[in-house]
Amino acid sequence: MLSDNLVSAINDQIQFEHYSAFIYKSMQAYFETADLPGMANWMSVQFQEEMSHAEKMFHFVCDTGNRVVLQGMDTPHREFSSPLEVFEVALEHEQIVTARINALMDLAQQEKNHAAQIFLQWFVTEQIEEEATANHIIAKLKRVEGDGRGLMMIDQELAQRTFVPIAAAN
Ligand code: FEO
Repeated sequence: MLSDNLVSAINDQIQFEHYSAFIYKSMQAYFETADLPGMANWMSVQFQEEMSHAEKMFHFVCDTGNRVVLQGMDTPHREFSSPLEVFEVALEHEQIVTARINALMDLAQQEKNHAAQIFLQWFVTEQIEEEATANHIIAKLKRVEGDGRGLMMIDQELAQRTFVPIAAAN
């Protein structure tokens, strides 16, 4: 049901979703140390989301009778100068993910693989939300820059985020 090219490309994306999770875990570590528990919580939830993205792809590869091949990861970004910079790096990362998902969809379309296109549609939609969420938080952080009370309010807001498994979210 999947060509070797598609299996290889989705395996690469499984690696990148794991790497995304690793990046957000690194950002969580930054916020834990910076004593911003709400932002640390937001990153912890984001870590779980990325792992669930990898898991969704993992099962698609298996369910189509193919082999998942795990790959190593680079060291994630670890040093940040401010909460704003963390979310700016997160947005840049999500823009890369969006480009990668679009390239995967292009490949599925070129190969006229309908199952892969339907599967990838979920990720195309998800990336709209991923970029929008990061943009909203960046806008808020820019508004309060230098105002400790405003930063605390954003931190409290981000403390409310909870992880919703994909099956339940759909
Ligand atoms: Fe799995 Fe944040 O995209």
